[in-house]
Amino acid sequence: MEDFVQNNKLTILGKLTAGLLHEIRNPLSVIKLNLDYMKMFENELSDEINESISSSIKAFERINFIISDVLDFTRKSSENLKPVSVNEVTHRTIEIINITASKKRINIIKELDESISPILASENKLLQVFINLVNNAIEASNENSNIIIKTKNLNLDNRKKVLWEVQDFGCGIKPEDKEKILNGFFTNKTQGTGIGLTVCKRLLDEINAEFNFESEYGKGSRFYVIFNPMTEIK
Ligand SMILES: Nc1ncnc2c1ncn2[C@@H]1O[C@H](COP(=O)(O)OP(=O)(O)OP(=O)(O)O)[C@@H](O)[C@H]1O
Ligand SMILES: [Mg+2]
Repeated sequence: MEDFVQNNKLTILGKLTAGLLHEIRNPLSVIKLNLDYMKMFENELSDEINESISSSIKAFERINFIISDVLDFTRKSSENLKPVSVNEVTHRTIEIINITASKKRINIIKELDESISPILASENKLLQVFINLVNNAIEASNENSNIIIKTKNLNLDNRKKVLWEVQDFGCGIKPEDKEKILNGFFTNKTQGTGIGLTVCKRLLDEINAEFNFESEYGKGSRFYVIFNPMTEIK
């Protein structure tokens, strides 16, 4: 029942977001049309004005890109599933998150097994999951600490699996909070929404990946995902 309520909340949130973004696109395209129109007169306009037109077009393109990305994210998937390298997505995650990590002087250690098989997933959604999890690890860590990201092959009940995990040595999770954090929309951060893990869980459910964590309060946490490699999908 609890699961049903949470999933429902997420579905409603997804629909609201999709609807809202759709509405924003219309007035936005009017702005773009006007900018394109002004650009037709660039020979008659001053350099300063041409520069502000160009930078407004760039800003428009950026907003448009974000909207497409979020809309893609709110759509139900199973479409867009492609062979994806978990290691590759891990590298991209670290590239994106390095600035945040270095601000806290956090060292991200990679222990990636090059022999793992590709998985069937949407690369952007997987990136979103990894970014959320590594971000949480950074937020939980003290300055000058390490975070370890690992991939490896597993053999569970004679079935091959691919493990991805992020381990931090930060604040850990209180025993009484443990069962709440994967049930959705739980946060103990002043700026948090509790949506990070909720989204991770939903996206990983879509590709039948197992998602869980271990944590010791005051010592740190390990969030892990167990994927089905493509070779095991019949
Ligand atoms: N690595 C971690 N160490 C300790 N606590 C964690 C860790 N990851 C998640 N948590 C706990 O789980 C809660 C939910 O995480 P989640 O990512 O869903 O939301 P958030 O990080 O609080 O907010 P948001 O991701 O929306 O900014 C966090 O507020 C925190 O209490
Ligand atoms: Mg988070």
